[in-house]
Amino acid sequence: MSAPALDFTHLHAAIADLARVGAIDGGGCARLALTDEDKEGRDLVMSWMRAQGLAVHTDAIGNVFAVRAGREDGEPVMTGSHIDTVRTGGRFDGNLGVLAGLEVCRALDTAGITTRRPICVAFFTNEEGARFQPDMMGSLVHAGGVSLQDAWAATDSEGKRVGDELQRIGYRGAMTPGTIRPHAYVELHIEQGPVLEEAGITIGAVTGVQGISWTEVVVSGTSAHAGTTPMRLRHDAGYVAGLCSTYARQLTKDMGGAQVATIGAIELRPNLINVIANRARFTLDLRNTDEALLKEAERRAFAFIDAAARAEGCVVERRTLARFEPVEFAPDMIDRVERLARAHGRSVMRLPSGAGHDAQMMARLCPTGMIFVPSVRGLSHNVAEFTHPGDIEAGAVILLDLMLELAES
Ligand code: GLV
Ligand code: MN
Ligand code: MN
Repeated sequence: MSAPALDFTHLHAAIADLARVGAIDGGGCARLALTDEDKEGRDLVMSWMRAQGLAVHTDAIGNVFAVRAGREDGEPVMTGSHIDTVRTGGRFDGNLGVLAGLEVCRALDTAGITTRRPICVAFFTNEEGARFQPDMMGSLVHAGGVSLQDAWAATDSEGKRVGDELQRIGYRGAMTPGTIRPHAYVELHIEQGPVLEEAGITIGAVTGVQGISWTEVVVSGTSAHAGTTPMRLRHDAGYVAGLCSTYARQLTKDMGGAQVATIGAIELRPNLINVIANRARFTLDLRNTDEALLKEAERRAFAFIDAAARAEGCVVERRTLARFEPVEFAPDMIDRVERLARAHGRSVMRLPSGAGHDAQMMARLCPTGMIFVPSVRGLSHNVAEFTHPGDIEAGAVILLDLMLELAES
């Protein structure tokens, strides 16, 4: 038995191999949840799990768990993330955490180490929430935050159901969600924002995840001729959507602090140059680290949307697509990440996560922590997403040490 050492060449190659599945121009990936590309990515990662001799289980929401036996039975130390992407995704978001977890297992194999507790590497279904809402769907079901039936019933923009799509791609597994309860959960992820890079720091000890509020808004007006209809007689759903988009930015200026707001999707009907839109559908993404402030942002945004629609003589419907309160990670896990980073001579800082993560759901079940590594120019959900190989390696080493510590404790 020797000290375990990670095979970085193998880790970088695995990231590149997975990025070939659903590859898009510019070096990114399109593997929206439960599409053919997602299936292909799942099949590839599962083939690696099996080749490593791990015991692989799929649950009824399509989460996949690869277990490496310990000296004792019982709750495993779990790591992982997701391998689905947004339609314009990069190659690191999620994928890094899963593939680094498998690399940890390979390092233990090579060193001939059997840990006291089992180790489990998971990838969770539909973390991104770009096709089906809510996001973090698989880990949310695993943690008991939504029922399997409700998750199966979620539909995409074409009306396709999660349950049917899982069946179609062969990932509606036999295991009951929540069966594998972790002793602890740790996730290595790229930061996806600019904080670490700007501070010149290699490792982020993540303190928690900010609250997320996703709303779908549908504004109904009246289609009419763009040339003949006097401005005072219009019920223009497109105009209302435009006002709301401008207001979202104004709201963040008014509230200041950590408040962010994004209208990322707008669809107009009939979407023609000379026809006033009779329908606008748009999404609103609000996030804040403070629950009371997030509620305040929702109150102001919803009041503006309703008033803008009313003033234009339009009808508005709002639907919550996802709503998660801010999550704080276990202090002990934050301390451990910080201590291990220092022990390896790495610069480290504490920071909250701006993005949603499966870890925020696992925090409902067990002590949970996250390790961040820097994102170049803070870019993510962008094909240009990049993290330097040396930073990936630094993060993976902390993951290995942390998992070893937790698995022996
Ligand atoms: C998921 O990645 C999100 O934070 O939107
Ligand atoms: Mn992610
Ligand atoms: Mn993402």
